[in-house]
Amino acid sequence: MFITWLISTLIVRYFIKSLMKKDQVKLPPGPMALPIIGHLHHLGPIPHQAFHVLARKYGPVMQVRLGSMLSIVVSSADMAREFLKTHERAFTSRPQLKAVKSLTYGSAGFIFAPYGPYLKYMKRICMMELLGGRQLELFQSIRQQEIKHLLEYLFKKSQEGKDVDMGSELAILTNNIICSMTMSTSCPGAKDKADECRSLLKEGAELVGTFNLADFISFCKNMDLQGLEKRFKKVHERLDDMMERILKEHEEKKSNGGEPQDMVDILLRISKDEGAEMKLTRENIKAFVLDIFGAGTDTSATTMEWALAELVNNPNIFAMARDEIFSVVGRQRVVEESDLPNLPYLQAIVKETLRLYPVGPLILRESTQDCKVGGYDIPKGAHIFVNVWAIGRDPNSWEDPLKFKPERFIVESGGSNVDVKGQNFHFLPFGSGRRMCPGTSLALLVVQTALASLIQCFDFRVHNSSQDMGGNKVDMEEGRGMTLPRAHPLICSPVAHFNPFV
Ligand code: HEM
Repeated sequence: MFITWLISTLIVRYFIKSLMKKDQVKLPPGPMALPIIGHLHHLGPIPHQAFHVLARKYGPVMQVRLGSMLSIVVSSADMAREFLKTHERAFTSRPQLKAVKSLTYGSAGFIFAPYGPYLKYMKRICMMELLGGRQLELFQSIRQQEIKHLLEYLFKKSQEGKDVDMGSELAILTNNIICSMTMSTSCPGAKDKADECRSLLKEGAELVGTFNLADFISFCKNMDLQGLEKRFKKVHERLDDMMERILKEHEEKKSNGGEPQDMVDILLRISKDEGAEMKLTRENIKAFVLDIFGAGTDTSATTMEWALAELVNNPNIFAMARDEIFSVVGRQRVVEESDLPNLPYLQAIVKETLRLYPVGPLILRESTQDCKVGGYDIPKGAHIFVNVWAIGRDPNSWEDPLKFKPERFIVESGGSNVDVKGQNFHFLPFGSGRRMCPGTSLALLVVQTALASLIQCFDFRVHNSSQDMGGNKVDMEEGRGMTLPRAHPLICSPVAHFNPFV
């Protein structure tokens, strides 16, 4: 009798306690969840669009259960400020997804490292040696050279009257730039490695973008029902092989008396320095380089692809941008990075592209402590999605939000000079705060200069393409994927307008 009494007392106390707890915790509103899968059935192929539709009903802070995982979706500028600025400390880490853990050494890297001394150190090194102002200046000739290669290739295609998949060519451009900056062009076989790296990262990105039951449904945690683990393992082995070869080549070059000169050299030197502020492992170096490749290649290329597609569809905007470029640069030479401050309309075109097509449409964070935001309780361990895509299209922040109108970023045309530094919470293409994109300056330099040189040198025809929507328009449908890819590649035939190299 005593045991029965004890057990029933404990059960009743447990229920009373959990009911009281439920009463006290106020989670954001959200749709009714199904058992096991939660709201996964709402997600659809393009999550930021699905979240946007739900947020219209449930408001700017809502909860969705992705399987057993509580996620909070933030869809207004005011609420983004609350999460990313007012309560920033609670949201500076990112969740560890299985694909990231298996493919890119997990938190040994940069993008998914928890916020702490290691991440701060790596970010400092990265800004000092790769992405800061002084380093960007040093690498300027690499970027100009790679843009020249692209233009020469397009002139050749123009002469042959051939169509070009602009997305792939732009990805080659950004990949070559990042490859040369991190591994240096003097590194033997750098070009081959750029190609190998591009194809492996593409495969990796597809895997990261695949919905993995093991991440979201607790009883699938240790199962591999979709056979993804095997694929992660294969791609990881090939990536690791490639990275190992790169490190070995750098080590050999150094032992032959070569001076340290690129990012890999610098990281290797730190890893061997007993007195270094932070002990770097071989895995840290590989993960770091892969993260920079992953974050820096597709993002800039896809932004240029969207910009070009909008320009093809808006010939008057294209013409105004070209007039501006010729009036600043003249007709003797190709546009250069140093011209950019004098090209406000071009800059506005890039901002407008980033507003409508932010290639990081969902900023992903994780709460590292219980927190109250906007009157709601956000428990430790919840995933946070800031829907940058939806915020950029919010009619409360933007007039005529779906229209491509670069003038909205030009003060003289009645617009505002909003910048991309993460303090204007209705425009967050590069995120905000301590986890903001460290590649912002590089991305802007590459995207603006390459786009300007394309506008200066070519017209783009889409008449022979499956993309043609009639009247030389291309369709603007979004595809599946983490970095907001186009649903259909942008295939055009470049027609030479001005050749600065003859
Ligand atoms: C148009 C181009 C790009 C866009 C739109 C973009 C956007 C973003 C966004 C939205 C984030 C998350 C920020 C946050 O959580 O607040 C991010 C993080 C990051 N980006 Fe970029 N990015 C671009 C280009 C680049 C480039 C060129 C590099 C480097 C070469 C780079 C490296 C990184 C890294 C390392 C992170 C992780 C930072 C951290 O977790 O602390 N990105 N980027």
